[in-house]
Order: sequence, then C-alpha cells, then structure tokens
Amino acid sequence: MAINYLKYNRLKTNEHGIHSPFVFELYNHVFKNTSPYYAYSAVEGIRSRLSADKRILHVKDLGAGSGHNQGKARSVQRILKTAVKSPKYSQLLFRLANHFQPDTILELGTSLGISTMYLAIARSKSTVITIEGCPETRQIALENFAGLELSNVRSLEGNFDTQLPELLKTLDTLNFVFFDGNHRKSATISYFEQCLEKVNNESIFIFDDIYWSKEMTEAWEIIKAHPKVKVTIDIFQLGIVFFRKEQVKQHFVLSY
Ligand SMILES: C[S@@+](CC[C@H](N)C(=O)[O-])C[C@H]1O[C@@H](n2cnc3c(N)ncnc32)[C@H](O)[C@@H]1O
Repeated sequence: MAINYLKYNRLKTNEHGIHSPFVFELYNHVFKNTSPYYAYSAVEGIRSRLSADKRILHVKDLGAGSGHNQGKARSVQRILKTAVKSPKYSQLLFRLANHFQPDTILELGTSLGISTMYLAIARSKSTVITIEGCPETRQIALENFAGLELSNVRSLEGNFDTQLPELLKTLDTLNFVFFDGNHRKSATISYFEQCLEKVNNESIFIFDDIYWSKEMTEAWEIIKAHPKVKVTIDIFQLGIVFFRKEQVKQHFVLSY
C-alpha cells in the first residue's frame, strides 16, 4: 500500500492536468465543491452520536478476513472507526450521486449506514438498495435510517454472493454502484461482472479501497482494462468507473 501511495502521489494531477472536458467539469464541480450541504450536518450528527455508542455487537464478517472474526464482539464506536468511510469520502459519494441523479443506487456493504444515508439524501426520488451480511450491524443502520426518516432505502440482509444475483434478476438498470465490502480479488471481479450486465451509458461504479491489498490492486487493474470501461478515476481510496461510449478509454489519477 505504501508503494502504491508513493506511486499515486507521483502520478496525481489536479484540474491543470485534465484534458477531458467531462472529467475536468466533474473535478471542478463535484470533487472540488466545498458547499455546505444540509446532508452533511444531518449524517455527521448521526456519526457523532455513533462515536459515543458503546453497545457491543456480535460481528458476522463475510468479507476478506472472515474465518478470524466470526461472532467477534465489537462496539459500535469501534466499527464506526474501523469500517466506515470518513466524512471527506462519504461526502464525495453524496456529491457524485447528487450530480448524476441516479434512479437506482446499489451499495454492497451497509455497515452502520453512513454512506447509505449520504446516497439516499442525495436524491430522494432514487432507490438505494444496500446489502449487509452482519445482522446486528444492519440493525444499527436501520435505526439510523429511521432517525432520518429515509423512505428510499431498501436494506437487504445476507451474503452478497447469494443476494446480488437474486437482486439483479429484479432490476433493469444499475445507475450507481458502490462496492464497499468483501475486498477479495475474485469476489470483487465477480460482483463487477454481474453488475456490468445492468449498466447503461451513464452508469457509474465506485470501488472502495483499491489499494487495500495486492488482490484489490490486481482487481482494480482488471476493471480498468475491461473493454466496456471507458473513463476511470483513481483518487487512491476510491476508484471511479464510467462506461460512456463517447469517451476515449482514459485513466486519470487525481488529487483529492
Ligand atoms: C467497509 S464496511 C461498509 C461501510 C459503509 N459503506 C460506510 O462507509 O458507511 C463493509 C461491510 O460489508 C459487509 N460485508 C463484507 N463482505 C460481505 C459479504 N460477502 N456479504 C455481505 N456483507 C458483507 C461487512 O459486514 C461490513 O459491514
């Protein structure tokens, strides 16, 4: 990860190095947008409450690392600290969803529901489907959704491996997918390929932790090279993928 971070720092550019009008506009209006949206205070209020929540959950971990963590006791505040995207990145997810106005959003990995809430507030008319394999963690997320009176979140419980194929049978198009759980190479590629069947020209995929491990770095390389993938943006913590046929295939490493 350290080597990849050095590489990222050497390659990253800002708006002056972007020669694609689509990415230039996106970078200036979405990545660099510093407006204080209402969603930020609403969700960060919940994050702040969770940071003091000492309730102990029995965590069922179905992702990379499973085998060691089955039924492991962890406090809500610890889960918040270790598994949930920071304000900086979850607010970028919000701005991306707000910018592209997707009808159907899918999230693999709800955890406590922080990123889900950002995605759901970004467009109340969209449906956010979020899948979580740990029942006790999901219960806390459901409390949080109720606290914000979100009516556009559909929460599914279970393993992505079984839930995703069943869900995809019921959907025509996926406009926005956030892949944020089970950081194994084979699983990441499998979820990517399944979701790929449902993309349209405007769809956007976002992968978390693309440099978390050698496996994730390899998965990100495979995704970037896929013939259906046109524009990719690497901001180190996240990898963002577009399928726009009108674009030439191009990869951007952007400062964020
Ligand atoms: C990094 S956390 C999600 C964080 C959340 N998106 C956020 O930023 O607010 C990943 C979640 O995915 C869940 N998960 C991992 N692998 C899974 C699998 N194969 N099936 C279902 N859930 C899984 C874990 O239980 C964990 O809660």
